[in-house]
Amino acid sequence: MSEVADCSIHLMVTSPPYPMIQMWDKQFADHDPKIEKLWQKLSEDCQEETVSQIYDAMHENLAKVWAETYRVLVEGGIACINIGDATRSVNGKFRVFPNHSRIIEHCEKTGFTSLPYILWKKPTTKPMYKGKGAFLGSGFLPPNAYVTLDCEFILIFRKGKLRHFPPHDPTRYESALTKKQRDAWFTQIWQITGTRQNTSELERRTAAYPDEIADRLIKMFSIKNDTILDPFLGSGTTTKTAMQNERNSIGYETDQNLVPTITKKINEDTANLATEVKIIRRTKQH
Ligand SMILES: C[S@@+](CC[C@H](N)C(=O)[O-])C[C@H]1O[C@@H](n2cnc3c(N)ncnc32)[C@H](O)[C@@H]1O
Repeated sequence: MSEVADCSIHLMVTSPPYPMIQMWDKQFADHDPKIEKLWQKLSEDCQEETVSQIYDAMHENLAKVWAETYRVLVEGGIACINIGDATRSVNGKFRVFPNHSRIIEHCEKTGFTSLPYILWKKPTTKPMYKGKGAFLGSGFLPPNAYVTLDCEFILIFRKGKLRHFPPHDPTRYESALTKKQRDAWFTQIWQITGTRQNTSELERRTAAYPDEIADRLIKMFSIKNDTILDPFLGSGTTTKTAMQNERNSIGYETDQNLVPTITKKINEDTANLATEVKIIRRTKQH
C-alpha cells in the first residue's frame, strides 16, 4: 500500500479472502505462483506436509497486508479483521483450518497488541456429518459428527499505546455512542444475519459482510473525520459505511470486475455526503 503514508490511518476494517475455503483457492494461486505450484505438488505427492505448506503460504500472503496495515496506522489505531475458520477435506482427510489463530499469531509477530475479539454468530445452519452440511439421521450416533461452524471471528488489534485526545475534544464527543449501543456492542457475541448474497457468481464471490458489522466497528473504534482503510474492499461495504458515518476512507480491490458494484454501492447510499474516498485498483503482481 505504498500510496498510503506511514501513520495516516485511524482504523482498518476488513475481511480478507479466507484461506482453505475453496472459493478463494484460485485467487490465492493467481497472486502467488508458489501456491499454485504447491497445489500441483499435492496432486502428485498427496502428502500432509504439502497441505500445511499451502495453508502456511496463504497466511504468509495475508501477513504482508497485516504488516503494511501496522505501518500505516497511527499510534493507538485499531485493526478489525473479520475471518472464518475453514472446514475441508483435503487429501481425503476432513479437518478444520483455524484461520483466526493464524492471523492472531501473524499480527502479534508484526507488533500488534491483541484485544478481546467478537464472535459473529450467524443463524444456525445444519450440523456437519462426514464433512457435509446436510443433517443425516446417523448424525445422532456418536462419535463421528462434527460441530457446525456457525460463528466467524472479528479479531481486534491495536498498534502501540492508546490514542491520545485533548480533554473534551469536541469531535470525539460528537462521535459518542448511545448507552444502548455501548451496552449491546461491547459484548463478545454478536448475532447478526449474514448479507443475502446476490445470485451472480461475482457477487457471491465477494462474500460481503452486512453493513451492520462495518457500522458498529466504525462507530466503536473511530471518530468523525478519521480515515478508515479496507485493503480487501470487495463490494465496498466499508467505504459506504465510513462515508455514512462522516469518516474518510481508502479501499483496495484487486478484482477489476467489482468496480461497477463498488461504485453503485457507494453512490446509492452516500450521494450527498462530502467525505474523501480513494479506491485504489490493485493490479496483480507476479
Ligand atoms: C471477503 S471479500 C471482502 C468483502 C467485503 N468486506 C464486502 O463487504 O464486500 C475479499 C476481497 O478481497 C479481494 N482481494 C483479494 N486479494 C486481494 C489483494 N491482494 N488486494 C486487494 N484485494 C484483494 C477479493 O477480490 C475480494 O473481493
